[in-house]
Amino acid sequence: MNCEYSGKKVIVEIGPGDAPVLDSFREVTSRVAGGTAKYLAIDKYKPRDSLLRPKLFVQGAISSIPLLSDTVDELWLMNVFAVLRLKDDFDCSPVRNQSGISSQDRHYLGELARVTKLGGIINIGEYYNPDIVKWLMEIDYKDFALEKTVFTDVNLAEFLKKYQMIPERVSLFFKPPYPDTFFMTLTKV
Ligand SMILES: C[S@@+](CC[C@H](N)C(=O)[O-])C[C@H]1O[C@@H](n2cnc3c(N)ncnc32)[C@H](O)[C@@H]1O
Repeated sequence: MNCEYSGKKVIVEIGPGDAPVLDSFREVTSRVAGGTAKYLAIDKYKPRDSLLRPKLFVQGAISSIPLLSDTVDELWLMNVFAVLRLKDDFDCSPVRNQSGISSQDRHYLGELARVTKLGGIINIGEYYNPDIVKWLMEIDYKDFALEKTVFTDVNLAEFLKKYQMIPERVSLFFKPPYPDTFFMTLTKV
């Protein structure tokens, strides 16, 4: 799928589920509402309630993102990697593998890097099961031509402020002091 939007920034979210960033980060919402950006959602499963489905929605998986290479300015994945680690996407236990990067993870990260434009960013956040995917913060992204900035504990507020997160819209679980929560920005260089 091509996603050229005549000069507008292309924002793509993978795995929005029932809580798309378009609803929960005011800064993203205002860019889309103001017409400077377009938002497309990709999820393996269609939200059953069509009202919860973003207007531009494509069914697809992170293992084979249905987008051409170098087309996305801003990619968002909130609480998706932890789910990819579970035996089944809907089964919250048992956890398949808690530590280290697997070849499958490498493939997922490669897909994210592939669709991102040079200078584009990938925002990854984990606040439901951050302990399962701590490795995401720890690995080196040079092989993927990505540079990481991690937001946790001390500088977490910086990320939340930049994108104007609306905590009550994000999740009932997202409450101060946000133990172990982290966000990460990967920039394609
Ligand atoms: C825990 S939910 C997170 C939903 C939302 N981002 C949030 O933070 O509340 C994980 C989401 O990832 C989606 N998902 C699971 N496996 C996926 C895959 N292989 N490719 C794309 N999306 C996937 C699920 O359908 C679900 O919407």
